[in-house]
Amino acid sequence: MDKLVIQGGHPLTGTIHVGGSKNTALPLMAAAVLADGVTTLHNMPVLRDVHTFSNVLRVAGCMVSYAPDADPSTPDSMVIDASRVNHPEAPYDLVKKMRASFYMLGALLGRCGEARVSLPGGCAWGPRPVDLHIEGMKALGAEIELDRGDVVAKAPGGRLKGGRFRFAPVSVGATINVMLAAVMAEGETVLENVAAEPDVVVFGEMLQQMGAQIDGLGTKTVTIQGVDRLGAVEFWNCPDRIELGTYMIAAAMAGEPGSTFRITGARADHLGTAFPEAFRRTGADFSIEPEAHGPHEVVTVTVPETIQPVSIVTDPYPGFATDLQAQWTVMMTQAEGTSEITDTIYTDRFKHIPELNRMGTNCSVVDNKVIVKGHGRGGVSGTTVMSTDLRASVSLVLAGMVADGQTDVLRVYHLDRGYEDLEGKLSKAGIAIEREAYEEFASDAEPVA
Ligand code: EPZ
Repeated sequence: MDKLVIQGGHPLTGTIHVGGSKNTALPLMAAAVLADGVTTLHNMPVLRDVHTFSNVLRVAGCMVSYAPDADPSTPDSMVIDASRVNHPEAPYDLVKKMRASFYMLGALLGRCGEARVSLPGGCAWGPRPVDLHIEGMKALGAEIELDRGDVVAKAPGGRLKGGRFRFAPVSVGATINVMLAAVMAEGETVLENVAAEPDVVVFGEMLQQMGAQIDGLGTKTVTIQGVDRLGAVEFWNCPDRIELGTYMIAAAMAGEPGSTFRITGARADHLGTAFPEAFRRTGADFSIEPEAHGPHEVVTVTVPETIQPVSIVTDPYPGFATDLQAQWTVMMTQAEGTSEITDTIYTDRFKHIPELNRMGTNCSVVDNKVIVKGHGRGGVSGTTVMSTDLRASVSLVLAGMVADGQTDVLRVYHLDRGYEDLEGKLSKAGIAIEREAYEEFASDAEPVA
């Protein structure tokens, strides 16, 4: 098993590159299953979740080739040949590793008219239901039953029928899953209270390029006219907005006050409205320029002398992303006062808090809110801490960057799900960080005589 070892106190300097979006790459791969041809996807990040989902597609009969180069700053392409999707199943041993494998329910129902998909696992926190996914498929006429932990779905007569469904609450995954099933259903589908995250909009744009008839992308209501077939396309994945937000926070916390830090390969409007506004209220600032050579943007952060406390409440896009909640909390431990971070989307996504407090921070969880008592920069001591989920892991790395002494972040397999070569990128930007193997369960007890 791997850990990341960080020597605190080295300022973040220079430039870092944002890779392709994990939470968009996965639905794009699912969309490729709908086309009986060869799809090429560009700017696909080298992540465990992408690797896992490639294997899910292979089980269904797709051929997936993906040969990323060693340089994370050059976009990598994936080729998916879905000419023969002849095994409409997604097995437990893969789905348990990654919740988004559940997208195969909509993709296989749409392509094959039937699906057997294991109920998902995924991150460690809280119950993460899929009731909206199931009810949405039923609204399209799918017959659904649970069989030994699998969802078994059938479209009567082999093809779903357009229908009407309202998501409550807003759900990124359920919106994507039901759209996958609806684009080749017979007739019109109206989906209300849909997610408008960039992940959903870019995924919808790929479906449109494939020939899907979709109106209302990015609004609260999406209307789909079902088509008989979809064509394979070549398509660019968008930059990862959560990686961008993470590096902006890292710069504000760990950059030299007054210095600037450049983040390339970005797309700033995907941050929504709440995050940029809160970020500037801390005293940090940033500017956006188009890349000189490339389709994306350069975000240049100006590191503030001091960080002002700014309370936030997470919300669906364009609100403050729940996936930046843990990272924001760490930044607030460096602020000149108290702030409150409330998560309205996941009410118990706070497993990083006990680990941060072991590093000397003063955070207390009350219901779905964490109260952070900041005393300005510093006050964090390096120690050994345990990752529990993807965004908790990266928040511990951020804390290690500003800690006194060494921080060992264990179980970085969580981190590898969503951050490509984080230690490589950060060490090129001045941080003393390296990956080391370790034995998690090596017994240090004296051997029994
Ligand atoms: C996606 O998860 C992201 N994952 C998550 O990012 C992200 O935190 C989340 O959206 C919210 O933005 C991927 O895109 C792969 P939801 P998803 O359905 O789709 C409730 C990361 O760190 N709900 O939008 O699973 C649910 O409990 C990951 O990259 C139901 O009640 O999230 C939650 O309270 C973590 N019934 C709310 O909706 C359902 O059937 C939003 O969840 C589905 C969801």
